[in-house]
Amino acid sequence: MTRKILIFDTTLRDGEQCPGASLNPEEKLEIARTLAKLKVDVIEAGFAIASPGDFEGVKTIAQQIKGPAICSLARCNKKDIQAASDAVKFSDRPYIHTFIATSPIHMEKKLRMTPDQVVETAVESVKFARSLCPYVEFSAEDAGRSDPAFLYKIIAAVIEAGARTVNIPDTVGYTTPWIFGELIEKIIKNVPQIKEKGVIISVHCHNDLGLATANSLAAVMAGAGQVECTVNGIGERAGNASLEEVVMAIKTRKDIFKCETGIDTREIYKASRQVSNLTGLLVQPNKAVVGANAFAHEAGIHQAGVLRARETYEIMSPQDIGLTESRLVLGKHSGRHALADKLKDMGYQLSEENLEKAFTRFKELADKKKDLSDRDLEIIVAEEVYIVPETYMLESIDIKSGTHIQPSATVELVYKGEKISHTAIGAGPVDAVFKAIDALTKKKINLVDFTIQAITGGTDAQGEVTVRIKQADHIFVGHGASTDILIASAKAYLAAINRLLTVRP
Ligand code: KIV
Ligand code: ZN
Repeated sequence: MTRKILIFDTTLRDGEQCPGASLNPEEKLEIARTLAKLKVDVIEAGFAIASPGDFEGVKTIAQQIKGPAICSLARCNKKDIQAASDAVKFSDRPYIHTFIATSPIHMEKKLRMTPDQVVETAVESVKFARSLCPYVEFSAEDAGRSDPAFLYKIIAAVIEAGARTVNIPDTVGYTTPWIFGELIEKIIKNVPQIKEKGVIISVHCHNDLGLATANSLAAVMAGAGQVECTVNGIGERAGNASLEEVVMAIKTRKDIFKCETGIDTREIYKASRQVSNLTGLLVQPNKAVVGANAFAHEAGIHQAGVLRARETYEIMSPQDIGLTESRLVLGKHSGRHALADKLKDMGYQLSEENLEKAFTRFKELADKKKDLSDRDLEIIVAEEVYIVPETYMLESIDIKSGTHIQPSATVELVYKGEKISHTAIGAGPVDAVFKAIDALTKKKINLVDFTIQAITGGTDAQGEVTVRIKQADHIFVGHGASTDILIASAKAYLAAINRLLTVRP
């Protein structure tokens, strides 16, 4: 029988930890629905003890999402584990993931504990977690820089205490494929309890040296039965192993991996778009599997080859990841019902209220643009439905700019039911718009990043603007889309400011 590799998705925990990716509970639930459609085996829904919001997020996902096991992270202490259990207990398949660091530098400098104290704490924590929850995973944080002999000792001890999966993280992305593969092989060989009790060895690789996918796959070859990863590879610093890369490598090179995952790969593209839209983290065009150019053949010689036989230059088919021609789709005569069906088909299950918002925006856009593609609809959902409360709402903008005049913008906002307006000049029209918004919101904003891209082809395409703003070490993302790029810019900037205001009113 073909060996099955479990996919443990941590987009909503480790992925959400990266700067600017913070998601609201509604957005998290929507991503969790998509992960269930992808058929991941475990959803790590958050870190329940981190805040009341995180706790509610994990609990809601545990209550509503069926299929995958629902997991919360917990440090090795009773308070964390109790909170994790209280949040995941609503799932049919509750799962606690508890961790403690095992590398000399982490034990000495961060934990200030001796190796024996670390083993003792790990064992007590796993026992406590098992008393509350049938499924417990233990992680040896920074295993990539830990002494292998110490790992054998702690892994044997936590298995005796009841851990059913043991995770080997390369927390700082330091290892290489051959070293990591050898480590996994040695762990399986030197800890007999792994085979005796059918314990799953999991891996969790960070991408600091661009090796997270390669390291995870080397571990799979060496006997690991689970890979922890995130959609689009988002996560701390350079991110985590990317789900789509790991899954498509195993599928495409089944000849060498000789195993399979349970992932429905046709859902990959939708999941990638959704995570990018909701987190505001753009996918680089040359990103493996899901980048805009991943299946584009520009060079003439390549195009000629692909036209004769796809396999000349394509090792996977776009359909395998659910990438179909952006069909359209809907236009201005389409009704609410058609929109609801189409969104359902795209993986969005909207409440009546959210469907109404999406429909209003759909009609506005359909008046300006003849054909609406899947991408247009994704943007409508991301922009209109999953928005933070709008402290400031854009009423209108009026721009003066041209070859011989100083650009200026008059921006009118609605704030607490009142219309407020300001005119500012700037180096260009976007600068003028942002300066007018700064004056109206009285916020000292540091703009870190501004990107604009056309959502579909044609001069009537919507422009999608993503901005990142920074205030006191926190990054807030906003995006906006419109057929007018200055309106899109104003919307994106206000969305980021409104997001900031929900955290720091
Ligand atoms: O990178 C890491 O070590 C982690 C653990 C909590 C598993 O995210
Ligand atoms: Zn991690």
